[in-house]
This record gives sequence, structure tokens and C-alpha cells, in this order.
Amino acid sequence: MQRERHPVPRHVAIVMDGNGRWARKRFMPRFFGHKQGVDSLVRCVQACSDRGIEYLTVFAFSSENWKRPEEEVSGLLGLVLVAVSKYLRKLAEKGVRIRIVGDRSAVTDKVRAAWDEAESRTAHNTRITLSVAFNYGGRWDVLQACRRALAQGLPPEQIDERQLSSLMALAHAPDPDLFIRTGGEVRVSNFMLWQIAYSELYFTECLWPDFDEAELDAALAAYAGRERRFGDVAPVRAAPAAGG
Ligand code: IPE
Ligand code: IPE
Ligand code: MG
Repeated sequence: MQRERHPVPRHVAIVMDGNGRWARKRFMPRFFGHKQGVDSLVRCVQACSDRGIEYLTVFAFSSENWKRPEEEVSGLLGLVLVAVSKYLRKLAEKGVRIRIVGDRSAVTDKVRAAWDEAESRTAHNTRITLSVAFNYGGRWDVLQACRRALAQGLPPEQIDERQLSSLMALAHAPDPDLFIRTGGEVRVSNFMLWQIAYSELYFTECLWPDFDEAELDAALAAYAGRERRFGDVAPVRAAPAAGG
């Protein structure tokens, strides 16, 4: 199989961390870092697409980020609108399918409308699927999947891992092969708890606005050198997750 000769991950998940510190280093407000972070994301989508990665999932705003000062939270919500108006057309033309994952109930109608537009305008694209996790938490996702299972009246014995996965916000993507976190913190911070059971983890000091093609290639090289076993004894050279 071609993928085993060229072990490019099928699905890369990224915690885009370090925007605030990037701005602080330049004596700029945190928002400046978030703005640069959007540009870095657009570059990263292109770079992943060029390398044959089929799914890219990024953490843009966590369930816990509401704890931040109101000014920063409203800045981030406003940035969603700016990002969609600035980049949607370009991403759509490049064959990017956009999906927003997370609890939509807490955001404004304007933001919801921007997301709906981003999803509907790119729904037919097939080159790469970009899932943007916004007001997302791994625990929220497990919980909402359980609630949906109960609401559907599924008997407990019929609820298995496959069933629950299909009810999760990321049901449209296979489990991530590679999980990257920028910004130097070595933690998961409630991102994709269910789906990263067998992902390869990669942490870099690089702050998100500085994450460029060379940084992506360093992560991909580290991934290519990993041995994945999925609980078995025989190593499987890094290849797309089984069942994905
Ligand atoms: C990540 O950067 C972006 C969001 C959480 C929205 P941060 O804002 O967490 O930046 P640091 O970690 O404070 O540098
Ligand atoms: C994780 O970063 C969330 C996003 C990147 C959106 P945080 O900066 O919120 O994580 P903690 O607080 O350092 O764990
Ligand atoms: Mg942070």
C-alpha cells in the first residue's frame, strides 16, 4: 500500500498554542498574536494539503477559554468573522472542506452564520478537511455523544465504541495519527480526549504564529520514525491508524 512506503499521517491534530507569548515578546497586545495565528493556520492548511494530509483538526477556542478576560474572548469571536471574510474564498478555491466542531449554542448569531457559510460553501471539496474546534472540549464531546445516544433511545448494551464514535463531533474524520502541540506546554488541555487514544504525540517549543513548513516537516519526520503497535507486539511503522 502506498501509504506504508510514505508514512504521511492521514489526520493531523494541532493545539495551536503560544499566540499570547508570541505577541508579548514583541511588546504587542495578545490579540496581535491571535491575528498572526490565523495567518499561520492558513499557511499550515496549504502545507498539509501539499503533503497529502487528508484531515487537519485545530484547536482554536476551548470550553475553558471563556475564563479569559472578556476583551480577549470578544476579540477572538470577532476574529472568526474577520478570518472567514478574509480567507474563506481562498480556502474554498484550494479544495478545503471546512467543518466547525464544538458547542455552537454559546456564540452569537453572526458567528454561527459565518460558520454555516464556511461549511456550506466548502461542503463539496475533497482535497483536505479542516476541522476547526471552537468552544470545544474533549469532555464536552464525550458527554454530548452520550446524551445523543440516550436521546435516540439506544439500549445500554447496544452502545459500543463504534456507536459512540459515530455520535461525536469528529465522526467525519478518522482518529488522528499525529497530535501536535506548539507553545512548549506538555499537556492535552481537553482536546480530543477520546480520539487520541493511539495518536503519536509531538510537542514543540515553537509558538503557533512561528509554526511554518520547516516546523511541520520536523513533526512529520518525527512521526515517520515512530513505531506504532496499537497494543500488539509487532511494530507497525507509522501508518494511518487502523480502522480510520
Ligand atoms: C492559543 O494561544 C490560542 C487560544 C487559546 C485561543 P494562547 O492565547 O493560549 O497563547 P499563550 O499560551 O498565552 O501564549
Ligand atoms: C489550549 O490552549 C486551547 C487552545 C489552543 C485553543 P490554552 O492556552 O487554553 O491551554 P492551557 O490553559 O495552557 O492548558
Ligand atoms: Mg496558551
